[in-house]
Amino acid sequence: MAISRKLQQQMAEGGWIRKMFEEGIALKKKFGESNVFDLSLGNPVMEPPEEFHQELSRWVNNPRAGMHRYMPNAGYPEVRAAVAEHLSSMTGIPFTQNEIVMTCGAAGGINVALKTIVEAGDEVIILAPYFVEYIYYIDNAQALPRIIPTDNQFAPDLKILEENVTSKTRAVLVNSPNNPTGAVYSHNTLKGIGEVLSRKEVEYGREIFLISDEVYRRLVYDGVECPYVFQYHPRTIVTTSYSKDLALPGERIGYIAVNPLYEGRDELINGLVFCNRVLGFVNAPALMLTPSLSVILTPIQAEVSADLAASASGDRRISRIRRRSRFFAAPSLRSGLRLRMTKRGGDMSFNILTVSISLKSV
Ligand SMILES: Cc1ncc(COP(=O)(O)O)c(C=O)c1O
Repeated sequence: MAISRKLQQQMAEGGWIRKMFEEGIALKKKFGESNVFDLSLGNPVMEPPEEFHQELSRWVNNPRAGMHRYMPNAGYPEVRAAVAEHLSSMTGIPFTQNEIVMTCGAAGGINVALKTIVEAGDEVIILAPYFVEYIYYIDNAQALPRIIPTDNQFAPDLKILEENVTSKTRAVLVNSPNNPTGAVYSHNTLKGIGEVLSRKEVEYGREIFLISDEVYRRLVYDGVECPYVFQYHPRTIVTTSYSKDLALPGERIGYIAVNPLYEGRDELINGLVFCNRVLGFVNAPALMLTPSLSVILTPIQAEVSADLAASASGDRRISRIRRRSRFFAAPSLRSGLRLRMTKRGGDMSFNILTVSISLKSV
């Protein structure tokens, strides 16, 4: 047997989203791109902004000497400084390049963060429904997931959270705007989470981290506010990427931002940089660090349009997509617009036929 029993089990349990994605590719080949609605991965359907292509060709055609060599494991200092400046202007908290580690996407960042802070057997709290890969990221760090339910708005239930933070809890991993529910956590919710963590830190005499996965931060609409987490708890680690808002998931570029208000940040950052290296990422891709620089600071506004239609249940184009349990997908499109998929006799039904997202610089 080439692969471990644990991996066999994980692959059997966790492969269905990828299977749907592969199935989508096959169906598109057969029936045409516009006839298949792939809601499997959070894979942007738009192209990166024009500025990205311009920058990319500029660097490819006029390479800086040594730009493809090894670099500091945290990434080019000037790129980290640009990210820090952006975060300082957005949060009012003074970030420096030292608090930024460039990563291979948010997935890389979350794995690095978890490996850095957890001991084997520690618990990491996640809120259901959650991005399914979290389970494997937590396992990669030899930790255990503790899954707690959310309320009827898919927001954290603070009472349940408080009951589930134990002496083994090392981190709470949140995701707002959320995949799959679309929920955006409010100021009060984040404040409440911070208060629970502070109380529990005192009770157990142990630092508890809030890891905030913010890959969808810039995909909010109609004035919905998505507060930054830094002010609510000193031990916050933000992981994010340009996969969604700049439509670059294939390029694997993102970053970790550590709260400058955390006293132990230097040690934490050294650990993050070390883990970025020893997990085999080494550093984020050099070419992506350079062209991304100019677009990082460009606020991107995503425009979403959706064609609504009557329930497509039974429609042959989607009837081959099957799943086991009920879930909701609302990638934070517009308030009031929610892709809702429910199990019906094994097939999905939904009443939004096409969703297109386009990016424009503002
Ligand atoms: C909630 C969430 N976190 C993280 C990721 C991974 O993002 P990246 O491609 O930047 O690694 C995804 C991708 O779909 C996601 O939906």
